[in-house]
Amino acid sequence: METGKVLVLLLFGLLLGVARSSPSPEPEPVACAHGTSNCTVTNAYGSFPDRTICRAANATFPSTEKELVAAVATAAAAKRKVKAATKHSHSFPKLVCPGGSEGTIISTERLNRTVSVDTSSGLMTVESGMVLKDLIEDAAAAGLALPHSPYWYGMTIGGLLATGAHGSSLWGKGSAVHEYVVRMRIVTPAPANQGFAVVRELCVGDLDLDAVKVSLGVLGVVSQVTLKLEPMFKRSVTLKKRDDANLGAQAAVWGNLHEFGDMTWLPWQRKVIYRSDDRVPASTPGNGLNDYLGFRANPNLVLIAARAWEECQEKYDVVRRLTARVLSTLFEMQGYGFTNNGGSFTGYPVVGFQNRIQASGTCIGSSPCLWDPRIRAPFFYNSGFSIAISKAPAYIAEVQKLRDLNPRAFCGLDTRHGMLLRYVRASSAYLGKSEDSLDFDITYYRSSTEGEPRSHADVIDEIEQLALNKYGAIPHWGKNRNFVFDGAIAKYPKAGEFLKVKARYDPDGIFSSEWSDQVLGISGSPSIVGRGCAIEGLCVCSHDSHCAPRNGKDYSCQQGKVFAEARVCSLRPTASREEL
Ligand SMILES: Cc1cc2nc3c(=O)[nH]c(=O)nc-3n(C[C@H](O)[C@H](O)[C@H](O)COP(=O)(O)OP(=O)(O)OC[C@H]3O[C@@H](n4cnc5c(N)ncnc54)[C@H](O)[C@@H]3O)c2cc1C
Ligand SMILES: *[C@@H]1O[C@H](CO)[C@@H](O)[C@H](O)[C@H]1NC(C)=O
Ligand SMILES: *[C@@H]1O[C@H](CO)[C@@H](O)[C@H](O)[C@H]1NC(C)=O
Ligand SMILES: *[C@@H]1O[C@H](CO)[C@@H](O)[C@H](O)[C@H]1NC(C)=O
Repeated sequence: METGKVLVLLLFGLLLGVARSSPSPEPEPVACAHGTSNCTVTNAYGSFPDRTICRAANATFPSTEKELVAAVATAAAAKRKVKAATKHSHSFPKLVCPGGSEGTIISTERLNRTVSVDTSSGLMTVESGMVLKDLIEDAAAAGLALPHSPYWYGMTIGGLLATGAHGSSLWGKGSAVHEYVVRMRIVTPAPANQGFAVVRELCVGDLDLDAVKVSLGVLGVVSQVTLKLEPMFKRSVTLKKRDDANLGAQAAVWGNLHEFGDMTWLPWQRKVIYRSDDRVPASTPGNGLNDYLGFRANPNLVLIAARAWEECQEKYDVVRRLTARVLSTLFEMQGYGFTNNGGSFTGYPVVGFQNRIQASGTCIGSSPCLWDPRIRAPFFYNSGFSIAISKAPAYIAEVQKLRDLNPRAFCGLDTRHGMLLRYVRASSAYLGKSEDSLDFDITYYRSSTEGEPRSHADVIDEIEQLALNKYGAIPHWGKNRNFVFDGAIAKYPKAGEFLKVKARYDPDGIFSSEWSDQVLGISGSPSIVGRGCAIEGLCVCSHDSHCAPRNGKDYSCQQGKVFAEARVCSLRPTASREEL
């Protein structure tokens, strides 16, 4: 029966594939019914964590700073809600929604040029809607390198700064891109006698830069960003799989040993892929390329089959275990997408220029990407949270303890290529990390049906609550499910400073939305409590009804197995024994 379903989906995919033979770019999350009015806004996955989409009265697409100032002034004069959105909007939470349903969207899609780049000073100024891929390419053409970046280059510089995005490093200023910002221009509301909008320019030394660097989009629209880059260099990358017994101890030191080191933990297989990744002179031979397998374009057919396969894994643990094994073997054989010369993978080390190694995402030029919402492609949650390095080994030990109670429950992480552990340094940015941290990043199955429980959801919920409530983890602003943000703002010692700047820049709160008010602790709560809310990650359960699934199975709200204070939805003990 299951095979039949897969076959039908494969055939369906083939038809779709034929119907869309020429690749179309990633979908644009802002869609307007009449030209630029009566619009909806969603994210690149076509679904916010609460499964709603947002509405806005209209959208505007400025292509110069002057047009941007005019757009902000129009909104400010009318005290209309307004919000910057980007071409593809890759953040999971509802960050790009203007408040209410009658607001204005200011898209940065056409603000995508390099303004200036100077090789001798290493300074590069770009417009805020510039996609990271283009920024990295333009810098490289001038012999310059952005020393750290997220691993995926499809997002914009404005969006990635606003959410505090990072790569992995404890060296120098660390891996967060906002550490390399030396100047920003931001358009904010202003009084009538100043024309309702002004451009504020902030440089190193201006205290407000610590607010504007990581702003969640609530201070205004960033127009331009100036980054301090480095002369181009090469990196030498070696990935090595080892046993996970001493992961905790290794995690405490790995970031000191390797400038770009990270770790990918496959908890069910009890393995860790250690990434030794170091700077080498530009004269070192090698023209390696990082084209990560997970960020490549795949035919529709393959993605539809992959989703059908995911759904099958939800039902049969044995299929999931097989998938985890096959996938890690295939990824390892193909060097995870690294090649030594841009063509084939022949072994480590892979040596290549920074711009070819730091990030990837070839699906953005020739979609569909893995998560394309226009087809029935894989659908998932992405959680990311950071724990102070001093506490990370103890956290890892507790997760290992939970894993040892029922290793199979962790297999779903292995099928998504594990848990990515990366380093981020403490920052002066008010909404950045306040301590040197280890960031944990996971993706896991999400049902396309609202209220349908995930298998082994309880262990994921427990490791997230353990991190947040016992180890003081702070969530990535651009990832995660709603409940994770509950109380998060209290973990930022300088949140008060941020709110003071917000009150000065946008006294009427036109850039604020329901979501930003909830996560900044201004009003309301990011949790949505109701029947089945814990199944959807919208709340932490405190009552069995929060675990009541749509499929009538017998779930209840129970305490965690290792972290007793956790509250997770589990099948009642009698029922769980019947599982495969
Ligand atoms: C495949 C993938 C891989 C990822 N990898 C990483 C990673 O390695 N490391 C990491 O840290 N993160 C990673 N992320 C998360 C990503 O960095 C964030 O989701 C980022 O915010 C997305 O940027 P965006 O341009 O799509 O912005 P959006 O999601 O469109 O916007 C995010 C916020 O920024 C605001 N904003 C955007 N532009 C401006 C502007 N010009 N002025 C003011 N506010 C603005 C918006 O209003 C919104 O509040 C990844 C995401 C994906 C999809
Ligand atoms: C806006 O568009 C929706 C369809 O997306 C339509 O139902 C609605 O009537 C439109 N509203 C206005 C005011 O045009
Ligand atoms: C959006 O709609 C409002 C109200 O109709 C209007 O005042 C404003 O000028 C519009 N903005 C844009 C950019 O079209
Ligand atoms: C900038 O955006 C415009 C409009 O979306 C697009 O036509 C152009 O190709 C983009 N430029 C770059 C370098 O991506």
